[in-house]
Amino acid sequence: MKVIYPGSFDPVTYGHLDIIKRCADKFDEVIVAVLHNNNKNGFFSIDERLELLRKSTEDMPNVKVDSFSGLLIDYAKLKKVDIVVKGLRAVSDFEYELQMALANRKLYNSLETLFMVSNSKYSFLSSSIVKEVVLNGGDVSCFVPDIVKDSLRKKIEGGL
Ligand code: COA
Repeated sequence: MKVIYPGSFDPVTYGHLDIIKRCADKFDEVIVAVLHNNNKNGFFSIDERLELLRKSTEDMPNVKVDSFSGLLIDYAKLKKVDIVVKGLRAVSDFEYELQMALANRKLYNSLETLFMVSNSKYSFLSSSIVKEVVLNGGDVSCFVPDIVKDSLRKKIEGGL
């Protein structure tokens, strides 16, 4: 069984990697799909996010990293995958995720959204928090892999 785990991943954190690893253990293939949103400038470019995800998941052979633009349902149809996994960190995620899951199912009836409860160690974590800590000189070693930490530092210093 294949699943899609979509998101912005700007950048990938240990919270995302926890969900990816648990999906990789339960499903035959996990497609981590990075949204390419033309209207939103990210901190990292799409190519940089893909590279960081690929390097962070290289020990998981059944994880594929890809990008998409437009609607998630169209990408799911293109890939012939009808299960999307979303992580739930806290109750506050639920209302928005429920709305998206219901809208997606209305648009594509066979699409199922599975919610995976985040590891409580990472329930507070978001990519914005990581960026805020780094921009203010803090240490993000416990939030992201070293490869992401190094890229954040290079980005801030203008070397990426
Ligand atoms: N660990 C750590 N952080 C997590 C996390 C986890 N397990 N799960 C979510 N997050 C954080 C992300 O880092 C992100 O943080 P940020 O806001 O600081 O950047 C935040 O939660 C939101 O996650 P994001 O990846 O942006 O996901 P989303 O729930 O907003 O959905 C898409 C992203 C790509 C799935 C969604 O926008 C989409 O499907 N877009 C395509 C258009 C479409 O089809 N829309 C639906 C029409 S109804």
